[in-house]
Amino acid sequence: MNDKPVVRYDVENGIAVITIDNPPVNALGPGVTEGIVESLEKGEADPNVKAFVMIGAGRSFIAGADIRGFDKSRPPPKRRSYELLDEVNKPVVAAIHGYALGGGLEHALSCHYRIAVADAKVGLPEVLIGILPGGGGTQRLPRLIGPKAALDMIVTGRHVPAPEAKELGIIDDIVDGADLRGAAIAYAKRIADARPLPRVSAREDKLAEAKADPGMFDAMRKSIARKARGQKAPYHCIAAVEAATKLPFAEGIAEERRLFLELVSSDEAKALRYAFFAEREIARIPGLPKDLKLPEVKTMAVVGAGTMGGGIAMSFADAGVPVKLLDASKEVLERGLQRIRDNYAVSVKRGSLTQEQMDERLALITPVETYEEIGDSDAVIEAVFEQMPVKKEVFQKLDAVMKPEALLFTNTSALDIDQIAAVTKRPEMVAGTHYFVPANVMKLFEVVNASKTAPTTLAAAMKLGRDINKISAYAGNCDGFAANRSRIPFALEQNLMIEEGTLPEQVDKVMVDFGYPVGPFAVADMSGLDISYDTRKRRKAADPNYRMLTIPDRLVEMGRKGLKTSAGWYDYEPGDRTPRPSEVVKEIIREESEKLGNKPRAFTDEEILHRLLFGSINEFCKILEEGKAIRASDLDVMWLHGFGFPRWRGGLMFWGDTIGAREIYNQIAAWHQQYGRHWKPSALLRETAERDGKLSEIRSKAFGG
Ligand code: 3HC
Repeated sequence: MNDKPVVRYDVENGIAVITIDNPPVNALGPGVTEGIVESLEKGEADPNVKAFVMIGAGRSFIAGADIRGFDKSRPPPKRRSYELLDEVNKPVVAAIHGYALGGGLEHALSCHYRIAVADAKVGLPEVLIGILPGGGGTQRLPRLIGPKAALDMIVTGRHVPAPEAKELGIIDDIVDGADLRGAAIAYAKRIADARPLPRVSAREDKLAEAKADPGMFDAMRKSIARKARGQKAPYHCIAAVEAATKLPFAEGIAEERRLFLELVSSDEAKALRYAFFAEREIARIPGLPKDLKLPEVKTMAVVGAGTMGGGIAMSFADAGVPVKLLDASKEVLERGLQRIRDNYAVSVKRGSLTQEQMDERLALITPVETYEEIGDSDAVIEAVFEQMPVKKEVFQKLDAVMKPEALLFTNTSALDIDQIAAVTKRPEMVAGTHYFVPANVMKLFEVVNASKTAPTTLAAAMKLGRDINKISAYAGNCDGFAANRSRIPFALEQNLMIEEGTLPEQVDKVMVDFGYPVGPFAVADMSGLDISYDTRKRRKAADPNYRMLTIPDRLVEMGRKGLKTSAGWYDYEPGDRTPRPSEVVKEIIREESEKLGNKPRAFTDEEILHRLLFGSINEFCKILEEGKAIRASDLDVMWLHGFGFPRWRGGLMFWGDTIGAREIYNQIAAWHQQYGRHWKPSALLRETAERDGKLSEIRSKAFGG
């Protein structure tokens, strides 16, 4: 137990300095707000104190309320620090470095002055964990910067860099970061006698904006309707800011409190908190020595300039890492580079990238045509055609040219990495780094641990993913690894239900209502039905027992390849991406399901949802049983960032817990009887159901679970 006080109080030349010292991010955990209140009371009572400075120790100002604390009951504080800050009669200067987020920024907003170092960031990200700013942020921020700008910050939850915060009027001054404490004390001395104190709560001028444009709140509701479907928090955020423009400050605060309490224990908030912590837990691989010395990866090479290789190269350029892009064919290389340029140009056109940034990124990508030219890179990712002989040839070449300490990664999504590693003299330095399409956009970075991969290689690959702002996820080496393997039952069931007579539009509606941005059949049309058709053909050639899927096969064979042919599972008008239910497809489904002896019947939405998702829950359990993933929550994170699972539902296993392991197991066991082998329940699922355990808390026994 650490007895160090989480808030320190000391007086320097008439300035009381309140230092929040609650590592790692100075969250407002137990004792912090109490310490702030105590310090303010002490300084207020001390005639020698002329002004206050509030500052954070370590790497941040205050990152907000303690998110873990939301699930625990804590007695309410005797006095709220936010309100006390409004009442004190001596000026308080917030001195911000690192992050001032949520309750952290709300404390700063309650102060009379705010200064920050140039690389600090401020924000009210509560909406991202399903709540709203509950420390007065929805009432003070609109008073300080106007309701429109406040709405933008509160509804998106984005982090605002200090220079922009100064322009908006949140920060009064940007100061030199070398001695923030000194600068803050000097600032406090300068304004010590200024009266009246500039209290944000007393300001009304900026609220006039809402009177001039009362429609802004409904416009905001409209603009988020698609993205915020099924969620409550973004709408409550808008309602709270609207209240700021209509009610006196104290009543606005009461309304904010009411809305906050409605959200804090909602399913949505619980799910989003779960996702927040799961995304941090996933970085930890139990059993890896803590003091591993990792090889530094400062320069990269990518082999293969196809769509995937190009996207991978962009993922490094985006993170400022120089990358060589190798392809033996000049034409493929030039086409690949053009695709990269086109992709960046789209971002510039949309305004998410400046021309200068685009040029900088392009300058980091060096096209090369020979293996020798990439030999001095710290690591290489192979992204060539998915065929074992091709991969083996590439790895033999890489082993020959790459410097001895270079790490060799493969982006295969299906092949056995042990076999690939075996052709090199350094199998311990080989691992999988599996990207998801589009590689420069999708956050998931699956790191595959082959049987000879060394702990340093594994840890370096995990770090590499994080360094390029991806979410690294551990997976064992097995068919499909963890993420894609867990998605297979979903994809299979989607097709089997069609064979039983459901329609694509019915299935898609259920999944969109559930929270997916697009239904699985519309997604298939976007990807192109011919791709999975070709894979099925290849599989069939290798395995005569492989079961083809007659309906999608017929669609492809009649030229319905998806969006690109204006026909697939749906019909499309040329130049329009809106899927329209197709009479042709309906007829094919009717014919094929009749041939299979399936009688027409109605499907409930619940059956569709459960058929699609329970199979993957079962597969999650099998993957964990085999030690091919570490924890259920890791798989949940993979689905959030690899497959568009709705974040506000936490993750597949978290959602499964809302139904219960027992009920899911019973249903799967029944379907096993009805439909056969592919519904065979996992032993781990059975065991979890029998002990009434939580699916989301399962940890693989191979990793100490
Ligand atoms: N509460 C509890 N723990 C927190 C926390 C918080 N608000 N913020 C971060 N942590 C923990 C993380 O879980 C992690 O713990 P671990 O090491 O045990 O995994 C550790 O602090 C470091 O966090 P990160 O790994 O995320 O560190 P980064 O440097 O990558 O990011 C950050 C720092 C940007 C501050 C990021 O942690 C973050 O976004 N935190 C959440 C901020 C937030 O949502 N604040 C609002 C809280 S709600 C609120 O304030 C309500 C109020 O309105 C009343």
